[in-house]
Amino acid sequence: MIFAIETSCDETSAAVVQGGKILSNIVSSQTQVHAEYGGVVPELATREHLHNLPTVVRRALDTAGVQASDLSAVAATRGPGLPNALLAGYNCGQGLAFALRVSFTGIHHHEAHLYSPWVTGAVADFDAFEPNVSLIVSGGHTILVHVRAELDHAVLGSTLDDAAGECFDKTAKLIGLPYPGGPALDRLASEGDATAYDFPRPLLREAGDDFSFAGLKTSVRYFLERHQDVLADQQRLRNLCASVQAAIVEVLVTKTVRAAKRLGVGCVTASGGVTCNSQLRRDLRVACDNAGLRLRMAERNLCTDNAAMIGILSERKILAGVAATALDSEVLPSWSL
Ligand code: KG4
Ligand code: ZN
Repeated sequence: MIFAIETSCDETSAAVVQGGKILSNIVSSQTQVHAEYGGVVPELATREHLHNLPTVVRRALDTAGVQASDLSAVAATRGPGLPNALLAGYNCGQGLAFALRVSFTGIHHHEAHLYSPWVTGAVADFDAFEPNVSLIVSGGHTILVHVRAELDHAVLGSTLDDAAGECFDKTAKLIGLPYPGGPALDRLASEGDATAYDFPRPLLREAGDDFSFAGLKTSVRYFLERHQDVLADQQRLRNLCASVQAAIVEVLVTKTVRAAKRLGVGCVTASGGVTCNSQLRRDLRVACDNAGLRLRMAERNLCTDNAAMIGILSERKILAGVAATALDSEVLPSWSL
């Protein structure tokens, strides 16, 4: 039975996992704390993690109905992420492993994202695993990965500047929506006309698998400088949201499916906060169906950051015989996938 901790950014999370089953997955989000600053404030995130960890750890054990003494291993996110935020959860995990005399595994946050789409209804189905192209798309990252086999992957491309979630959030901020604006923009877009305004699709026609979203955000800013009146008209505002969302989603979907076809895999997976976006979910489904690709999108509660995915991956690593991580190891804030 594995205890897992995740504190790489602004979610304090702890989970208990056993035999591919998620017995508990407690997530304490700090969104409210950071909202008034319009983004994550690292120092505040660390303080919140330190404050929340004892309660979150206790709740994860209680919800699973287990005692600390039942645990056979501990895992925690080692990187990438905010250095001191990582340190809070990593140290907590190391302390637990030391006190319980069990093994400890430091997990790569993005590697964990790669396997969360294989979980359905709190149960991981790795018997169904097949080589895939995986899209990790969140507030901090946009990464396309070729997962050749379990625990064997190669990064195909990533964003050269802003992440897709950042583009959603910065666009939302420009039109006056509260942080994080992605979900609110999604709601407004659902009643808008995506063909109303034409925004660029950055790097869509380029051969590589990298992304770039900073220019798109800038073109929204220029658009608003020229069309201030759009902000005062609810329907045109919805149309603007739908048009920007369509540009982001088209790039994500097209490049993901194109990479899957090029590499000859039969499956596409997606995870990360932006995978909650309704148009992305819809369009990726249609594009994969049309291309004859099986699609696995992480369930909504596993799209955003959580400790269950850390526990699920650490269990697979233990089963595969991957060595434990030293109890005096350091966090790796810039760890590449
Ligand atoms: O994976 P996540 O929780 O963690 C971080 O990156 O920290 O992703 C959060 C991101 C934010 O940028 C948020 O605006 C975006 O995911 N997001 C969405 C939606 N739900 C969350 N973006 C667009 N549409 C949504 N429905
Ligand atoms: Zn994440």
